[in-house]
Amino acid sequence: MEQTLIILKPDCIQRRLIGRLIQRLEDKGLIIAAMKLMQMPPALAERLYEPHRGKPFHDHLVEYVTSGPVVVMVVRGARAIGVCRKLMGKTFGYDAEAGTIRGDFGLSTTYNLVHGSDSPETAETEIALFFERADIVDYATAADPWVLKEGEV
Ligand code: RTP
Ligand code: MG
Repeated sequence: MEQTLIILKPDCIQRRLIGRLIQRLEDKGLIIAAMKLMQMPPALAERLYEPHRGKPFHDHLVEYVTSGPVVVMVVRGARAIGVCRKLMGKTFGYDAEAGTIRGDFGLSTTYNLVHGSDSPETAETEIALFFERADIVDYATAADPWVLKEGEV
């Protein structure tokens, strides 16, 4: 089963949307395998956004994600990386489809509520930045057989 790193960014916490955004992940059938609220140190934000180093928005991005507490989660489920990206919607709120998190909750080109890993390699690297292996809990829920059932062909 795939795992991805999801971060509820400072605007999500400031706007008191934590519960509503987590609800969307749970509604979809995804499981939270690890979770913490933290103030991200600038050095950690720099490592998270290393792929964006040198881009015009890099410094603003680091400033944004360190501007207040964030909620960091490992989210697990079938095809969790792509599924979370779909739930999040396109990067900018004005561009994101209605029904997605970014499409329903924002219009900003920087403050877009949520981060999600974009590939299996990125997910592994990003998860390791925030969590020890022992922090990630492997468990099943009673709903799993109903939510996760795959077709036979
Ligand atoms: P994320 O990494 O946060 O999940 O978002 P993403 O893949 O949809 O977007 P990405 O291209 O990786 O950009 C990372 C974050 O940088 C901010 N951004 N600002 N002003 C700009 O042109 C600009 N472009 C990107 C956004 O906060 C975006 O989520
Ligand atoms: Mg990205």
